[in-house]
Amino acid sequence: MLAANDGEITSFFGIDLVPRPGLPLLVIPTTAGTGSEVTPIAILSDDDEKLKKGIVSPYLFPTVALLDPELTVGLPPRVTAATGMDALIHAIEAYTSNNAEPLTDMLACRAMELLYGSIRRAFRDGSDLDARSSMLEGSMLAGMAFANAGVTAVHAFAYPIGAEFHIPHGIANAIMLTPVMEFNMVARPERFAVIAAIFGQDVAGCTPIAGAGRAIEAMRILAADLELPKRLSEYGVKEEDLDGLAAGVMKVTRLLANNPRVLTQPEARDIYRKVL
Ligand SMILES: [Fe+2]
Repeated sequence: MLAANDGEITSFFGIDLVPRPGLPLLVIPTTAGTGSEVTPIAILSDDDEKLKKGIVSPYLFPTVALLDPELTVGLPPRVTAATGMDALIHAIEAYTSNNAEPLTDMLACRAMELLYGSIRRAFRDGSDLDARSSMLEGSMLAGMAFANAGVTAVHAFAYPIGAEFHIPHGIANAIMLTPVMEFNMVARPERFAVIAAIFGQDVAGCTPIAGAGRAIEAMRILAADLELPKRLSEYGVKEEDLDGLAAGVMKVTRLLANNPRVLTQPEARDIYRKVL
C-alpha cells in the first residue's frame, strides 16, 4: 500500500483514506487469530497517542490467501491460546454487532463452532492437525464475519491496554471479554443465548438472560482452561491509569458504533476496574 501511495502511514488511519490500490498481496497466516488474510483492516500502534489504530480500506484485501495448518503446528500453547481467543472473540463480536446480518451470522456461528470445538485440543497438543485445521478455518470465517459486521467494545477496550501496557492483543481481548459481555448481554440477550447453545451449554427452558449468562460462564471456564491471565494488574496497570484508559476506549468510535449497548466513559472505567 505504501509503495503505491504517497504520505505518512498515519495519514491513512481511518476508513477509506487510501487513494490507490497497493501492490498485489499474497498472504499466508502463521497464526489462527487475526483473520487478516480476509479483512480490509491493518492495525498499528500509534505511539504518540498510545492507542492502536486501524487502516480500513478495500485496497488492503489480499489478492490471494493460502491457509496451511502445518504452518501453525510450531506455535507455542500460550500463543495458540491468545491468538485463538482473538479469533473466537471476532466471531462473538460479529454475531452481537449492531451490523450483524444473516450472511455474517452464518460465518460467525460456524466460526464459533469450529474455534470453540478445537481450541483446547490445539492448546494441549500443538501437533493435532485436525484441531489446527479447524482453528485456521474458524479464524478465516471469523475474519470474513467481522470484516463485514465489525467488532465491538471488547476490541475497543483491548486497544488502549495493548498500546500503553503492551498486553498482547489476544490476551487483552480475553481479559476484557467477560466484563464486556456482562455489560452488553442485556442489549441482545437472545443472541448471547444462541452463543451459549453453540458452545454446547444446555439452554433449553432458559430465559434469554439466563442463557446469555451461560455463554459468559463457558468463556470464563475456557479462559481458565487455556491458562490465560485474568487481571490487568499482571501487566502493571494501576488504579490511577484507569481514567486515561477509559478515555482511550471512548476514542475508538469506529468500534463503539457497532456495540449493541451505548457505553459512557464512567461505565468504561468500571469495566476496566472489574478486571484490575
Ligand atoms: Fe482482534
